[in-house]
Amino acid sequence: MSLETTEPEHAFSGDRFDAIVNLCKRRGFVFPSAEIYGGIRSTYDYGPLGALMLRNVKEAWWRSMVQQRDDVVPLDAAILTNPKVWEASGHLATFTDPLVDCRNCKERWRADQIEGVCPNCGSADLTEARPFNLMFKTFVGPLEEDASVAYLRPETAQGMFVNFANVLTTMRKKPPFGIAQIGRSFRNEITPGNFVFRTREFEQMEMEFFVPPPDAPRWHEYWCQERFSWYQRYGISPELLRLRVHDAEELSHYSAATSDVEFAFPWGWGELEGIANRTDFDLNAHARHSGVRIEYFDQASGERYVPYVIEPAAGATRTMMAFLLAAYDEDEVGGDRRVVLRLHPRLAPYQVAILPLSKKEHLSGLAREVLAMCRERYMCDFDDTQSIGRRYRRQDEIGTPLCVTVDFDSLEDQAVTLRERDSTQQIRIPISALVEELTRRIGA
Ligand code: GAP
Repeated sequence: MSLETTEPEHAFSGDRFDAIVNLCKRRGFVFPSAEIYGGIRSTYDYGPLGALMLRNVKEAWWRSMVQQRDDVVPLDAAILTNPKVWEASGHLATFTDPLVDCRNCKERWRADQIEGVCPNCGSADLTEARPFNLMFKTFVGPLEEDASVAYLRPETAQGMFVNFANVLTTMRKKPPFGIAQIGRSFRNEITPGNFVFRTREFEQMEMEFFVPPPDAPRWHEYWCQERFSWYQRYGISPELLRLRVHDAEELSHYSAATSDVEFAFPWGWGELEGIANRTDFDLNAHARHSGVRIEYFDQASGERYVPYVIEPAAGATRTMMAFLLAAYDEDEVGGDRRVVLRLHPRLAPYQVAILPLSKKEHLSGLAREVLAMCRERYMCDFDDTQSIGRRYRRQDEIGTPLCVTVDFDSLEDQAVTLRERDSTQQIRIPISALVEELTRRIGA
C-alpha cells in the first residue's frame, strides 16, 4: 500500500488543477474571500455549491466515524478557550515554523520549504531562520493586556482531551472509545497556497480514540486501514492515494508513530490526514498543568491507567479539493464535449435535478410536485431554463448524479425520464416509483 517513490505515478497536470479552480469560481463552489475589496490572500468563501459539498464531505465523515459506530461519541468544543490549554499541549512553545526573510525583495518563507535561495527573486541573501508561532493571538474582553490574551485554536483535538473526564462520566464509556469533532481551526501559515490546500482558516475532522496502552499499536494499524479505505469508498481511486509512515525525525513532539494518507496532487504527494499514536502525552500534560487527575478507573478490575490516544486527523476543506480533483473528467457525448464531475452521489452538491421540458404552467406544476417528493430525502436543483441538452451539461459539470425530466407525456402517463450522469443512460419510470429508484441508486 505504501509506495517508495516520491513522485506520484498518476499525478494530475497543472491544467487539471486550473480547470478545477476555474470551475469552482464559475459554478459557485469557491470564491476568493471579500472579492469586491480585492480579496485577502489565500482566504476563500464557499459559495452555494461549495457549501453543499463541504457539508456532504463532513456528513460522510460523521456517518462513518460517529453514526455507524457505537464506540465514538461527538463533541463541539469552543474555538476560544483558556490559554493554559495551549501551554499544556505544547503549542505555545513548539507550534512554530522556521521563518526567513529575503533581504532583497522582503518576501518571507518557511526555511524548510526553500533551498537557500528566495523563490521570488533568486537572492541568497536571507536572514537566519527564527521560530514563528502559528497561533493567532487575540484579546478577550475590552482590555488589550497580557491577562486577556487568548488564541484561536490551531487544532480541534485539545477540546477532546480537556473534556475527556466529562465525557467519560456523562456517557459511561470505557476504553476503547473515541470522541469526534468537526470544526474550524486557524493557523497563521507563513506560506498559504495551492488554492484551499493550505489556508489560514480551515476545517478539521478529528477523532481521539482512547485505548488501553498495550493495545495502541493494534488500534493505530486499525485506524490507518479504516481511514485509508474511507477515501476510496467515496470515490478516490487507489492509485491516487498512499499511506506514508513518518520517519523518526518527522514525528511531532507528541507522537510515537504517525502515518499520513496522501493524495496525488498536481504538485506531488500531499497530506489529507495524519493518523498518530499520541500516547498518553496530552492527557498527562493536561493533568500536570491543571492539577486535575485525568485517568480511567476500571471498577471491575480495580485498575487505574492513563489511556493512550490514536488520532485520525483530517482536513475537510483540503479533502473536498481532493475529491474534486479526482472526480474531474472530460469526455464526449453524442459528438459534444462535456465536463463531468464523477463525484460520489453523497458528496455531490445536488443528488437530483428536476428538469421540466418547458416552462408551461401545467408542466411546471407536475414538475414541482416531483420536486416536493424528491427533496424530502435529497438535495435537489430545479432548472427550467435553456435546452434540455444544455441543462444536462450544466448538471454534469457540477456532479449531479441523476436528472429527472418531466415532459408532456408525463401529464398523460404519470412517468418521467431518469438520466444517469456517468453513463448518460435514460430510463422511463413511473412517478410513483421514482423515490424508491433514487434511493436504490443513491442510498437512503
Ligand atoms: N490534531 C492533529 C493535527 O491537527 P495536522 O496534521 O496538523 O494534525 C490535520 O492537521 C489535517 O488538517 C491535515 O492533514 C490537513 O488535512 C488539515 N490541515 C492542516 N493545516 C491546514 C491548513 N493550513 N489548511 C488546510 N488544511 C489544513
